[in-house]
Amino acid sequence: MDGRASSRGRGSEAGAARLFGATFRHRVLAAAGSCGFGEPLVEAMAPEEIGGLVTKSVTARPRWGNPAPRVAEFPGGMLNSVGLANPGWEAVRDEKLPWMRRRLGGLPVFVSVAGGRAEEYVEVVVGLAGEGDFTGFELNLSCPNDSHRSGRPFCLDHRALAALLDRVRLQTQRPLLVKLAPNDPEIALTARVAVAHGADGITAVNTMPGYLAGDRGPRLGAGRGGVSGPLLLPVGLAAVRQIADAVKVPVIGVGGVLTAADARAYLAAGASLVQVATGSLADPRCAARIARDLALPAAPRTPGPAQ
Ligand SMILES: Cc1cc2nc3c(=O)[nH]c(=O)nc-3n(C[C@H](O)[C@H](O)[C@H](O)COP(=O)(O)O)c2cc1C
Repeated sequence: MDGRASSRGRGSEAGAARLFGATFRHRVLAAAGSCGFGEPLVEAMAPEEIGGLVTKSVTARPRWGNPAPRVAEFPGGMLNSVGLANPGWEAVRDEKLPWMRRRLGGLPVFVSVAGGRAEEYVEVVVGLAGEGDFTGFELNLSCPNDSHRSGRPFCLDHRALAALLDRVRLQTQRPLLVKLAPNDPEIALTARVAVAHGADGITAVNTMPGYLAGDRGPRLGAGRGGVSGPLLLPVGLAAVRQIADAVKVPVIGVGGVLTAADARAYLAAGASLVQVATGSLADPRCAARIARDLALPAAPRTPGPAQ
């Protein structure tokens, strides 16, 4: 069994899901960039309290990331430009994966992969594909803080996206999720291209390009960054709805999820799983709390007036 998805795995919102060859105890996962390689999770709770983890994006060489400040808050959410700081795939193979094997108790894990060129994605996937104990890869093809040679993320260039996926697909039978961008005017078509070239699932959405300035100039060291948090909820929901109508593989919803009501809205829009980034950064137990609340009956939409 190669673990590739055969169905959307939809079912009861609170319950377990069998997808991508793995059993997810809950449908709420910690998103890429929110919990590193799981370290903050084990400090805060038993890892099996969440549905799964997507790691920080891993690149071919170690990256130190962008100059501080790397995050700035505003009333609608957060702007970040971390710059894909990560130790590179060899350290992930030698240190992070063995640690995760020991400490995460078999939690479903997707290793997120990023890079500036298709060769870098191939290198990381080839380097890690033979290692045990993780569910699959999530290809970050939509990071606003990184781009391929023509200056756009891969997902906004269908030809580059297709060529990259053709190369990566040849290297592994493991499930491949493709993560798309919120500022994609053709996101359903992009999802179709990704599936036609081997994607087993679509994750939507990454952060939205943004910029914040104060009296003394940009609030981030890198200047521009990516917007996350509550402001992204309607954007992510619209993307998931369009993608779920366009493809038959599972869709994973991410963007602005802080409560069970937000997660329910993604599941109703067609998502099979939900991820939480900004909420997990603020509190690594956020995904576990949302999963627990999902098991409770939904609150009525408009409570009646007090009599
Ligand atoms: C500080 C920070 C770091 C992130 N790092 C990554 C990353 O390494 N790879 C990736 O695919 N997405 C990354 N993301 C994007 C999130 O996984 C998610 O797609 C986005 O933040 C929207 O979800 P949210 O509104 O729940 O934060 C990052 C987001 C934040 C806020």
